[in-house]
Amino acid sequence: MQGADRFEVLIPEADLQARIRELGAQITRDYQGRDLVVVGVLKGAVLFLSDLVRHIDLPLSMDFLGLSSYGDATLSSGVVQITQDLSRPIVDRDVLVVEDIVDTGLTLSFLRETFVSRQPRSVRICTLLHKPSNTRKAVPLDYVGFTIDDRFVVGYGLDFEQRFRNLPYIAHLPPQDPAA
Ligand code: IMP
Ligand code: MG
Repeated sequence: MQGADRFEVLIPEADLQARIRELGAQITRDYQGRDLVVVGVLKGAVLFLSDLVRHIDLPLSMDFLGLSSYGDATLSSGVVQITQDLSRPIVDRDVLVVEDIVDTGLTLSFLRETFVSRQPRSVRICTLLHKPSNTRKAVPLDYVGFTIDDRFVVGYGLDFEQRFRNLPYIAHLPPQDPAA
């Protein structure tokens, strides 16, 4: 894979999968008898969502939302726009938003407010990763896979300039090698 041997693995594949299994079991317990719609935020949450739903033992539907935030690739500007909206209304539904990572919290606080205005029965958030040291807007996080330090990570859906989403583990992005 594209220079993958140079990555420093932060969360190996086995640890990711074990934690996702636990989250799925917890969500299964919490949503018994509810009308769940799992909403993945494109594109980063796609790998996490597809593994997570296989461990949720409930009838559910899936939907996807495209967001773009403007500014530097590695810095969140807080200016968020919906580039692809949900395919179905969420009024009276129990919505579980699935995200790859919460960094400043600006993206999810925007999304949460937008969804709440559509009058679902409930909105909860499930994020694979959380970088609490970078919080600018506190959002209630109902399910968190791993809490990590404030360093840029790639893999398992997370990208740097659209690359590395296909790594099966989470890794630190190595410093750019000027000789490469
Ligand atoms: P927030 O609005 O600052 O919480 O940013 C969340 C979004 O920024 C995530 O959905 C990612 O797309 C991106 N992001 C934040 N930190 C990282 C990282 O370490 N690697 C890759 N993308 C990141
Ligand atoms: Mg994202």
